[in-house]
Amino acid sequence: MTRVIILLGAPGAGKGTQAVRLSQALGLPHVSTGDLFRENISQGTELGGRAKAYLESGQLVPDDLTVDMLFDRTSRPDCADGYMLDGFPRTVPQAEALGERLGDGAPLTVLNIEVPDDIIVERSAGRLLCRECGNIQHKSFSPPAQEGVCDACSGELYQRKDDQPEVVQERLGVYHAQTEPLVGHYGDQGVCLSVDGNRAPDEVFAGCLASLEVEA
Ligand code: AP5
Ligand code: MG
Repeated sequence: MTRVIILLGAPGAGKGTQAVRLSQALGLPHVSTGDLFRENISQGTELGGRAKAYLESGQLVPDDLTVDMLFDRTSRPDCADGYMLDGFPRTVPQAEALGERLGDGAPLTVLNIEVPDDIIVERSAGRLLCRECGNIQHKSFSPPAQEGVCDACSGELYQRKDDQPEVVQERLGVYHAQTEPLVGHYGDQGVCLSVDGNRAPDEVFAGCLASLEVEA
């Protein structure tokens, strides 16, 4: 049976930060639709070309493109026993498509990482990403030992284009309008667990493990 864990939460809530740790702790591959789109854009694929303007403006990529890309990824052998979704689903139709794909009774757990909007803006504004290994740092909250250099692999750190303040506001608005309804959608199914994301990353991680009833 395929075990699926969904990380839900606003842009900048810490889904990516926690997904890396949880994926190691649970032995499940980390599948991020945002990362998949960014890879396609940097490799200049046709899909990347179709997705680029949506990412840059903070809008959602249309459901059909997103669902096809996701299912293509999750049909690879490493996902056979389960996977951890970061940034998918983000709309009710995406959640319905996933539900149909998995079928009734599939073990599905949703962790909703909750962080207030003002903190979100601060987190996104200072986010730093490694071009080489994808490590996520922050100018103030996890500052690199050497400016511009990744602590994990010494690669180059950069800021995402969609972390400019006006795009962050747009992404937050899109989140509240289109993605937050999923809390109710999965709440009705009895599979949505809330985690307080407004704590240090180690504490959020412990909170995620406790919700999943896994020993730290
Ligand atoms: P995506 O890449 O998924 O972006 P997002 O959801 O906006 O989420 P982020 O990656 O911004 O935040 P995060 O929650 O991962 O936070 P992080 O751990 O980095 O999507 C980008 C775009 O792709 C979308 O806008 C859309 O266009 C498109 N897209 C993707 N999926 C789609 C879908 N399903 N349908 C349609 N379109 C889709 O943390 C943020 C910062 O905070 C970091 O600097 C980190 O170091 C810091 N931090 C994290 N946790 C803590 C903590 N506990 N305390 C202090 N600092 C912390
Ligand atoms: Mg992310």
